[in-house]
Amino acid sequence: MPELFIGLMSGTSLDAIDATLVAIENDQCQSIASLSHPLPAELKQQLQTLTLPGDNEIERMAEAEPLFASESATAVHNLLEKSGYKPDQIKAIGSHGQTIRHRPEKGYTLQIGDPSLIAELTGITVVGDFRRRDVAAGGQGAPLVPAFHKAVFHQGDEDRVIVNIGGMANLTLLSADSSIPVTGFDTGPGNILMDYWTQQHLGQPFDNNGDWAAKTSADEALLKQFLTESYFQQATPKSTGRELFNPDWLSGQLNNFSHLSANTVAATLCKLTAVSIATHIKQYSPDSKAVYICGGGARNANLMELLRQELSHCKVQSTSFLGIDPDWVEAIAFAWLASRTLGRLTSNLPEVTGAKGLRMLGAIYPA
Ligand SMILES: Nc1ncnc2c1ncn2[C@@H]1O[C@H](COP(=O)(O)OP(=O)(O)O)[C@@H](O)[C@H]1O
Ligand SMILES: [Mg+2]
Repeated sequence: MPELFIGLMSGTSLDAIDATLVAIENDQCQSIASLSHPLPAELKQQLQTLTLPGDNEIERMAEAEPLFASESATAVHNLLEKSGYKPDQIKAIGSHGQTIRHRPEKGYTLQIGDPSLIAELTGITVVGDFRRRDVAAGGQGAPLVPAFHKAVFHQGDEDRVIVNIGGMANLTLLSADSSIPVTGFDTGPGNILMDYWTQQHLGQPFDNNGDWAAKTSADEALLKQFLTESYFQQATPKSTGRELFNPDWLSGQLNNFSHLSANTVAATLCKLTAVSIATHIKQYSPDSKAVYICGGGARNANLMELLRQELSHCKVQSTSFLGIDPDWVEAIAFAWLASRTLGRLTSNLPEVTGAKGLRMLGAIYPA
């Protein structure tokens, strides 16, 4: 009999809490219903400010945390209402929480979202705090989704690359030969810089479909400048976040490029995301021919087109070709991670995160 789990995910984009109800049996996942619960603008602002050092952080964090937990619980309530299930039918919620600081090189990563309060407000067991155990074991604590990708997307007759384009972009290399270890890491910015630039210049949270960026061409000199960032050359394992790729990073990069139009910068940022993903794929998996995209970036037609140009030797498609809607892959992954924790099973991949060994991730907050 499959068991029901709910996965909650809100990534670096800070756009919404993605919630999905998943039936899980023998590690295989069937999504039953999903929704995206937008974060209120004020909370988004509070959380965004917490991603960088500032004054009075403990108090500001303590104020934001229950707000985020309440929004998480509302997302769960809405999902149950939509799907017609009751809390006591749900085995557990896997809640990622919101990352407000990620510095694995200094030994910490911090996701807030008070799982105790979510358990209290929903009456459902919550599994949270997935990343810190991996960091404690010397790992990056990220990306955590490759183990899930391996469980649901591995196929013995095709080398596959799964690319998640959220605020940051991360990829998983799944060799057809299952004796070859899975590789996974963050390639750099996904949507985050494009979102910031679009907000600044169009007053919109993102460049819908990539239409604005598609109006003009990238500036090759600026692209070259972006690519001097040492993160792109850094050896794996590696992970990144708003600590590096943020408005300050971008304004430093643009110092000598004030002559470019905002539109040209937008086009170049989109190309940066495509080129940095493609370069990593060519370097780490030169023989892969099948690339599957998930995350909000899959909705950016211009970005998808640039990826197809940069990876002309590959078939670049969305994960819907593998039977999972690209919008919900990450949320389903956190439902799966919760099922692993309740089953007392490990769910990091040391070869991906650099941890000393396999670890059971997360903490359980009983209903
Ligand atoms: N229709 C669209 N056109 C272009 N970009 C989109 C569209 N829908 C979503 N996105 C992008 O996807 C991002 C959200 O992706 P998501 O996978 O939720 O990221 P995260 O995991 O960081 O929250 C948005 O901030 C936006 O940049
Ligand atoms: Mg999101």
